Amino acid sequence: MADSVVSCFEQAQAAIAAGQVDRAGQLYLQATDFLKPQEHRRWGELFQQAGQWDWAEALLRRLARQHPTMPEAWTDLGTLLVSRDQLPEAQACFAKAHRLRGWPESGDRGYWFSRDWFSNQLPNWVNWVQPLANRGPVQALEIGSFEGMSACWLLDRVLLDPEARLTCIEPEIRSTLRDNLDRSGRAPQVTLLSQLSWEALAQLPVDHYDLAYIDGCHAPWVAFRDAVMTWPLVKVGGLVVIDDYRYVGLPEDCPQFGVDLFMLLFTHCFEVVFSGYQLFLRKVRDWQPLTVPWQRAAEATTDPLLLDALAWALARSHQWDAAQQLCERAIGLAPQVAAPYLTLAEIWAQHQPEFSDQDLAHYGPLTRSLVQVFGHSLPGFALKTVPVGTGYDLEPLVAYLQALEKNTYWHEPVSNLLTVLERQGKQQGMPQAMAAWLDRLHHPPADGLALPHRPDLWRLIGDLAIASNNATAAALAYRCALH
Ligand SMILES: C[S@@+](CC[C@H](N)C(=O)[O-])C[C@H]1O[C@@H](n2cnc3c(N)ncnc32)[C@H](O)[C@@H]1O
Repeated sequence: MADSVVSCFEQAQAAIAAGQVDRAGQLYLQATDFLKPQEHRRWGELFQQAGQWDWAEALLRRLARQHPTMPEAWTDLGTLLVSRDQLPEAQACFAKAHRLRGWPESGDRGYWFSRDWFSNQLPNWVNWVQPLANRGPVQALEIGSFEGMSACWLLDRVLLDPEARLTCIEPEIRSTLRDNLDRSGRAPQVTLLSQLSWEALAQLPVDHYDLAYIDGCHAPWVAFRDAVMTWPLVKVGGLVVIDDYRYVGLPEDCPQFGVDLFMLLFTHCFEVVFSGYQLFLRKVRDWQPLTVPWQRAAEATTDPLLLDALAWALARSHQWDAAQQLCERAIGLAPQVAAPYLTLAEIWAQHQPEFSDQDLAHYGPLTRSLVQVFGHSLPGFALKTVPVGTGYDLEPLVAYLQALEKNTYWHEPVSNLLTVLERQGKQQGMPQAMAAWLDRLHHPPADGLALPHRPDLWRLIGDLAIASNNATAAALAYRCALH
């Protein structure tokens, strides 16, 4: 029978591809009595992918009826009902799944969720994370909270000590997240940071957390960065859990590429507690930057964004040469990708107190291509350290002017441009700078960025404009200084 079940599924796939949905449905009915629960779910996915919602709903309802103690059946049905706008029933399905998973508080407290990306993983969380509750006031960190399902479970099951705390990093704080946290009764134990992970992580205390859950943006380079930045924040002995480790999809959505790179770079710093769809690591030591096998890590990928992320990690630990080499490799592999140029510019800005002629001969073309292609002003920032009188004084100016022409982040090039002009005795490049600035004032870009609130700069422009007999520019500049 197993063979004919497989054959029914394959025939149904072909029927759906040929637009014969009813035929696929008949095949399902033919096979249904012989299907194992997981096979039912596969059929459910088939109908959903084909947009056959009625069939998918009928199938999932039947599955839940036949296997009422199978949590996945209720999670699948709940997810489908949300997409069909049947919200109260969807909540009841999620609550049933959670109760079956040993989390009755979900229904009892009336949490509201539109997605359940978490509860299927509860057996591992119960195994590895829940025991933390017995160790006093747990300090937990979560990157990516969405509507707070994992956060609420942590509050209900792990953060039981009144001194326990949870920090949630979530750039898009939804009202459902706040409502669910309130319903947990432990909202005062939670700090919500409405920031991107890498902004927030840079400000959090080191050696502080017992648990970190990484479930934010799943792009490999972000997963890599999140893991690298999270590491120093977690105590030795603490747990780091990474979601969707084994997600299969487009490469840009698969954290595994970034996480594997992280594990290669941080070899010896962790123990793998459990590796499945999610990855559970225990921190055994801090990262020792000088002993990292970064060449091996670099050879493990040709993804320019990951190479760039690796370069960024090394630059953070002041391994400038290695970081620079990695940026250059990334640029060589994909000259159209902006990130490694920016990292390179940041490295120069932090690391090179002054550029030598040789550096400039090497980096000048890179800088120009970045500015020309992407209109970014960061290379100008890096090149601000060019020694006056070396013949390259105009490089940063050119970078800022081009960045202005490209319309991006225009307040930044404007103010940087002025700083450079000031440094250069306010002469070179003045007419172009003034023209570019006036043009921006008259045609502000649509990026919604306001003029920088820098009265000192506007007054300087006004003075410069007067010195170059440009009364219109001077008037505009002084007006800006007043606002
Ligand atoms: C898969 S959801 C998190 C699910 C949540 N842990 C739960 O149990 O339901 C991913 C979340 O990460 C957030 N996110 C996306 N990019 C992020 C970033 N760079 N930093 C932090 N969070 C991010 C998204 O807004 C989204 O809410």
